Amino acid sequence: MRGSNVLSLLILCAVSIPATKNVNGSQPILQKTIEALFSDRSNIIYPGSCKLFIASKRQAKICTREKKFFEILTNAKKQAISACEESFQYDRWNCSLIYNGKAKKRIFNKIYRETAFIHALLAASLTHAVAKACASGELKSCSCVGSYRKNTTWKVNGCGDDFKQGKRMMKNFLDFNHAGNDQIAETLKQDVMIGVDSIGEQMREVCKCHGFSGSCTTKTCWKRLGPFNSAMGLLKKHYHHAVKKKLLNYTTKRAITPQAKKKMKSDEKYLVYLQKTPNLCVWTKGRTCKNRHNCATLCCGRGYLTTKKNVTSRCKCRMVNCCFVECDTCVKEAEIFTCK
Ligand SMILES: *[C@@H]1O[C@H](CO)[C@@H](O)[C@H](O)[C@H]1NC(C)=O
Ligand SMILES: *[C@@H]1O[C@H](CO)[C@@H](O)[C@H](O)[C@H]1NC(C)=O
Ligand SMILES: *[C@@H]1O[C@H](CO)[C@@H](O)[C@H](O)[C@H]1NC(C)=O
Ligand SMILES: *[C@@H]1O[C@H](CO)[C@@H](O)[C@H](O)[C@H]1NC(C)=O
Repeated sequence: MRGSNVLSLLILCAVSIPATKNVNGSQPILQKTIEALFSDRSNIIYPGSCKLFIASKRQAKICTREKKFFEILTNAKKQAISACEESFQYDRWNCSLIYNGKAKKRIFNKIYRETAFIHALLAASLTHAVAKACASGELKSCSCVGSYRKNTTWKVNGCGDDFKQGKRMMKNFLDFNHAGNDQIAETLKQDVMIGVDSIGEQMREVCKCHGFSGSCTTKTCWKRLGPFNSAMGLLKKHYHHAVKKKLLNYTTKRAITPQAKKKMKSDEKYLVYLQKTPNLCVWTKGRTCKNRHNCATLCCGRGYLTTKKNVTSRCKCRMVNCCFVECDTCVKEAEIFTCK
């Protein structure tokens, strides 16, 4: 009896160590950067060349060498946060930073499902933003593999979205290779790679035909990324299918044993998290549902209020004078559902 009490006390102590710090108090750049990008929703400009957060020396060097990097970071941050808020608008967790309005329950205090998702999301967004910038020739350190002609020799002719380059620069900027090899680091690195792969999945080959009257004797082809939002569906699927792992050996050094590492490897295809999300139901009072069906989950069984509102929309659209679209404005009464 006493033994098990001591054990549970030990476990309690272990769990209450903030997950974002390792024992010597230093936090890997990977975690620090993602946390800073997601948390700071102000437009504060910090000293240094990266401006969006206090950068490490390495990061500052990158931001100095690549003048456009600050813009890329800004885009990556914006597109990640707005895609997140939009696609989680009707979910219990709506992409907020804290649970249930309590500052103590910050999303980065532990490795929750949401924390895992945010790491994937921001890594994906950064990879995407860098790839796009590579394609438009805004970055010096991109090697543009460019497009090529099918059935003739390879030909460098402009650039496609350089996904590989995006991945490489994202890893370099987040200091991926020095993120540590403890369980938290291994977990977050896996989550980051899930995010990157979601972007890779969106690569499409596009070709343009050449030849007499479009006969397509030769084609120029290149790889193109979809818009960032097109990866959100996949990322959200990963959020829902995330796998919880047991916290291992968390009291001592943030080191991971070979056995533990092997165990983790089996689930490489999934987002991984380590701690259970606090109950989100307290926080959904007053939230708007998409429809009655959505209310059933969002309102956690408390029920909902229905109000009516007039909404205007374009309607009865038609072609006029061959080429112009003309529409009327219609007013329609819509029902709005709000959680009790
Ligand atoms: C998320 O929900 C909370 C609680 O209802 C609300 O205060 C916050 O504004 C919402 N955030 C977004 C982005 O909708
Ligand atoms: C290359 O040419 C061969 C015949 O010359 C043709 O069958 C094949 O489809 C072509 N490949 C591509 C990718 O266009
Ligand atoms: C826990 O971590 C310590 C320090 O790194 C290590 O010596 C020990 O073998 C680990 N134990 C387990 C069960 O992984
Ligand atoms: C919507 O507009 C109609 C007609 O103008 C009006 O009768 C109705 O009361 C309005 N409903 C709301 C909820 O404002």
